[in-house]
Amino acid sequence: MENMGNLRRTDMCGNLRIDDENREVVLMGWVQKRRNLGGLTFVDLRDTTGIAQIVFDEDISEDSFKKAQELRGEFVIAIRGKVKERESKNPDMLTGDIEVFVEEIKILNRSETPPIYIKDNDEVAENMRLKYRYLDLRKPHMQKLLKTRHKITKVIREFLDQNSFIDIETPMLTKPTPEGARDYLVPSRVHPGEFFALPQSPQILKQLLMVAGFDRYYQIVKCFRDEDLRANRQPEFTQVDIEMSFVDMEDIIEINEELISKIFKEVKGIELKRPFNRMSFKEAMERYGSDKPDLRFGFELKDLSDIVEKSEFKVFSGAIENNGAVKAINISGYGDEYSRKKISKLEDTAKTFGAKGLAWIKITSEGINSPIAKFLSEEELNGIIERMEAKEGDLILIVADKKSVVYTTLGNLRIHIANQLDIIDKESFEILWVVDFPLFEYDEDEERYVAKHHPFTHPLDEDLDILDTDSEKARAKAYDIVINGDEIGGGSIRINNTEVQNKMFKALGLDSEEVEEKFGFLLEAFKYGVPPHGGIAYGLDRLVMTLTNTDNMRDIIAFPKTQSATCLLTDAPTTVENAQLEELAIKIDLKEDK
Ligand code: AMO
Ligand code: AMP
Repeated sequence: MENMGNLRRTDMCGNLRIDDENREVVLMGWVQKRRNLGGLTFVDLRDTTGIAQIVFDEDISEDSFKKAQELRGEFVIAIRGKVKERESKNPDMLTGDIEVFVEEIKILNRSETPPIYIKDNDEVAENMRLKYRYLDLRKPHMQKLLKTRHKITKVIREFLDQNSFIDIETPMLTKPTPEGARDYLVPSRVHPGEFFALPQSPQILKQLLMVAGFDRYYQIVKCFRDEDLRANRQPEFTQVDIEMSFVDMEDIIEINEELISKIFKEVKGIELKRPFNRMSFKEAMERYGSDKPDLRFGFELKDLSDIVEKSEFKVFSGAIENNGAVKAINISGYGDEYSRKKISKLEDTAKTFGAKGLAWIKITSEGINSPIAKFLSEEELNGIIERMEAKEGDLILIVADKKSVVYTTLGNLRIHIANQLDIIDKESFEILWVVDFPLFEYDEDEERYVAKHHPFTHPLDEDLDILDTDSEKARAKAYDIVINGDEIGGGSIRINNTEVQNKMFKALGLDSEEVEEKFGFLLEAFKYGVPPHGGIAYGLDRLVMTLTNTDNMRDIIAFPKTQSATCLLTDAPTTVENAQLEELAIKIDLKEDK
């Protein structure tokens, strides 16, 4: 500590209070700002705990006062001085009752003018924040977010440790995992032409740890998925990954409700009501058009298909004829907020979700206002109004299409409108388990059924029989935990029986060669005594976002990737030298149009 001379830090800036009056303290930190007032120079000194005002008085130390004139924003300094009660107190600052009169100062490091201000709510462009992330992270708000993240992981580790879960690391250089996104690949130099995949999750390995007899495993672990990025997705994200043996679904749900309750209690001081709500996948889709419903507001979907099945209005009856549906939401009480123009904007939004149009009925004091009223019989119109429980001041929005489009459009529209109307209580938390997922889902791109979770998910016991015959109807012992409309975590009971597993592969259309190549090592392990087991994985980043009320995932990750999967700080990814490529036996062939 040469350059600090004989100074040893005694206190953190943000912790000083009136009780410290007359103490001699040594503080170290960054200069937030400097103001000169005659023979006095005031400096706001910042460290990770907060800011303290320090004062350089010519009459106390001429030498220090002189040095203080050199100080600029973000200089790193150490000071020794005495704590005094402040004459003009600042009630907005925790340290606002005191100031420190400096007797000695050392400039530990100088700073150039930083390219971004170290100030919360600075309007600087995000790419600047990411490029100079170490400066961005100096902001009190950012420090607070990462500290909350730390607190959350600490609570999780403590809870899992107390409940006999042990933390076991699994490899990052591994084989493709079955989560269904694109892999990040790592070329092998030792085996030219061969690749490792970075794990999309430790799924198979945690199952092998159950085969190995560890009983309860957890890991807070990086996962990698090369997917199209959205606000709540990162290519590299963190899971709280959990697996347990000799359990069924209820055991897993119970201990995870305890875990989530403990996190809310310790991090937010909120006592959650238990058991959490549960909703089947089917009900979630029918009522909210989504398998991760936000229950903080209404606008539930209602089915109008039976009412308009035979309608003259072909948009409606045609959709039903084509095996689709006609469904609607009632923006009850907010009809007056939506002019024709504003509704037409809603229609544009609806189209971005795949809808062909958006029909609407407004109930005003002068009666019904609707461009489709003339196409509907009185009976149909009345039927709709009755089904939607519509009254004066309401706005009914209707979509006719194939079911998936109807759900997606109305499900997203209800969220869009709730945000637009600003009616969501940001302080409330609506938590639920979504259960009874279908085992399979149809992949429109691949034109085949794929596993909704992954191919090791156990069917509901009562659906085992239809696995051969009606597999698309089979439901899974799978569960997602949803908070405020975000899928925070998901898991399942796994298959531990070769016969069921083979049926599953068959239903997925995987032939034995493919199965052997992809999962052979798991099936081999399953020959030697597999306990019944299951687990869950939380998206830690999403959980932290929820608990900190953050809408940008990048804000709760120290060094995140951009929306286009780059790191602006290090400039990764980059090209590499030819020699390195040669060593890996890799040739780059960039297509012209790229
Ligand atoms: P799943 O694929 O549902 O399950 O992932 C678990 C949770 O991880 C979060 N998550 C993400 N968070 C940020 N960015 C992403 N790109 C991203 N992708 C997923 C979500 C999700 O709920 N192995 C299984 C779990 C199990 O069955 O035990 C799995 O990975 O919050
Ligand atoms: P059109 O006869 O196509 O002009 O449509 C009449 C009204 O029905 C317009 O308000 C459209 O927005 C609406 N509409 C068109 N297609 C659909 C659809 N698939 N679902 C709901 N409304 C639709």
